[in-house]
Parts: sequence; C-alpha cells; structure tokens
Amino acid sequence: MFKHLLVPVDGSDLSVINVGEAVKLARSFEPPLKLTFFHALADYAASDEGSRARELRQDRLHRAPVFAEGLSVSVTVLNDEEFHQRELGQSRALLAKACAAAAAAQVPHDTHSAVSDRPAEAIVKAATDCGCDGIVMASHGRSGLGALLTPSVATKVMRLSRLPLLITRSMATDTQVEASRATALIMDEHRSLAAVLQGLRRHVDDARQGAQRLDRDIVAALLRYVHDYPEQRHHPKEESSLHRLLRQRGERGRDLLHRLEAQHLHEYQLAAELQAAFDACADRASGDDPALVRLDAAVATLAAHVWEHMRLEEHELLPLALDVLTPADWSEVADVFAGNQDPGFGEWSEADFKRHFTQAANSARLPQAQA
Ligand SMILES: [Fe+2]
Ligand SMILES: [Fe+2]
Repeated sequence: MFKHLLVPVDGSDLSVINVGEAVKLARSFEPPLKLTFFHALADYAASDEGSRARELRQDRLHRAPVFAEGLSVSVTVLNDEEFHQRELGQSRALLAKACAAAAAAQVPHDTHSAVSDRPAEAIVKAATDCGCDGIVMASHGRSGLGALLTPSVATKVMRLSRLPLLITRSMATDTQVEASRATALIMDEHRSLAAVLQGLRRHVDDARQGAQRLDRDIVAALLRYVHDYPEQRHHPKEESSLHRLLRQRGERGRDLLHRLEAQHLHEYQLAAELQAAFDACADRASGDDPALVRLDAAVATLAAHVWEHMRLEEHELLPLALDVLTPADWSEVADVFAGNQDPGFGEWSEADFKRHFTQAANSARLPQAQA
C-alpha cells in the first residue's frame, strides 16, 4: 500500500493537472497519503545562458554586442549565481502553488528540488532520496498541452525506477485537450492566490506568536496581489468567458453563477476591510497588539471566503462546464485565461502579475517550499 508519493512539477499545463489529480488521489486514502512535490532546476552549464557565457568568456566580454542590420544592442548574460537565483525563485513559486493545492485539501506535503538537466534521472533519484514508494506523473494521448515532463520522460522514469509509476491522465478528444488547457490555467491562478494568502497568513501568524515582528513591506506586497489580482484579472476573466459561455449554453448552473458572482463582490469588500486593518497596523507589531489581532482576523476571514469560493468553482462549476461547453468554447476560455484576449483592467498586465507572484512567493515563508 502506498504511503508517500513523489509528484514532479514544472510550469506546464499538464503538470498543473497532474498536481490536482495527485492531490485527489492522496485524499482518497485514509489517512491521506503524503506528497512530496519535486522540481528539477535547470543546470546552468546546459542552459542557453551557460553556453552564451562560455562563448563570451572566450571573447573576454560579459556583455555582448549583437549587430543586426546596422543596429547594436546589448544582451545581458546571467552569470552562474544570477542564473541560479532566478531558477530558485521560479522553483519556489512553482512549489508554493503545488503546496497550496495540497494544503487546501489537507493532504500532508513536502517539497524537494535538485539541479539537473536530465529530468528522468533526477525524478528517480529524488524519489529514492525522499523515501517515496511511488511516483505520480501525467500522460496525454496527443499533442496540445506543452510539457517538459513529456511521455518520453515518463517512459524513461518507468525504465529507470523500481518504484511503481502512477499515470494520472490520458486525454484523447479535442474537447478534453482544450478543456484541460483551460481548467489548468484556471486552477493555476487559484493556486497562485492560495499560495500568497497562505504566505500572508503565516507571516501575520508568526508576528502574533512573537516568532517575528510584522514587516509592513512584505505584507503590503502580498496584500496588493491578494487585493488586485482577483479584482483586476481573475474574476473579470471568469465572468467574461466561462460564465458568459455557460449562460449561452442554457439554464443549467444559472443559480450557481449568480452565487459565484455575488461571492466576487463580497470578496472585494473583505479585501478592502483587510486593507483597512493593515493600514491601522504599525510596522514591527507583534504579540497581542490589538491592531495585529484585527489584521489576523481579517486575513483569516478573507482566506476562508476564498477557499470556499474556489472549492465551489473547482468542484461544481468546472464539472458542469465540462458537461456543457464545446471545444470552441473551451478554446476561447483558455485563450482568455492565457492572457491572449485580455478583459482585465487596472495598471498591471498579466505578465506584471506573474512577476509579482514570483516576488511574493519568495518574500514570504511559504508552506514548506524550501528548495
Ligand atoms: Fe470566481
Ligand atoms: Fe476562480
């Protein structure tokens, strides 16, 4: 019987789906299985930056002039340390999102990472090092979802490892591929928000327990994401694509959509109340400071609301949508969530928010996401 599974993650849609399926699988056991999320950081020596740096070192230059049609531009080449820090930051962000999915389902979890440009070998070694008794990977029957952890990697893992390999998904039809792409993007946004909210809860809780003092700069950065991302991007994308298309396809889910949209409005109100509680809280506050107690309560209230909202969407709205939407509908939803059709408003673009999430994930002590 399984007790502890390794779940490799990368930034692909397929990986997002695989994390969700692994969490469901772990949750179906009593007690739930432990999951260790594993990410292989790119090896500098094998990267584009590494090979470019080697070429430049030969020319004794750190910044290379590139000449094209008479123009000269300067290309910054990351050195080994800069490259590693960037990879580490992205790795922590990916692992934090996977942890958020497990934490929401009360599945015990941990993280592990290693530098390697050979994913199959790295996965097998990680499973052994972490004492896992199985590996969970995704497979898809046809192209459509980009993934670093391709079926060939899964095949190689199967060959190299003595542990059982659990394959979570195999997609065959156009609808399934398009729907999976869209739902992966939606769930990934949910996990980003959940990870930042958890980071916020931990930071405020640490200050309440006296383990550290409140750092207003960190909390302000986390709060901005929690406040702006749902209101300016995530909810407008849901309402303008998924909700609109569901309404066009009939009456099913009408009450559910109404309830979810009311929850969006309530969330904005809770986020504003949280901001007000933060504004009243002094830098370096700790312990039983009354303003910190109010901030703690406001974070907990918003987090509980957001968990319930996401649960409703992932457990009721998405299954309903899988029943009624067409491949063209899913394709449109996926394009909107990928930022290709941009219904958001506010000063930040989709890319700005992605950057901000990575910074937020690295500025706070996120759940067990130590690389
Ligand atoms: Fe929503
Ligand atoms: Fe949502």
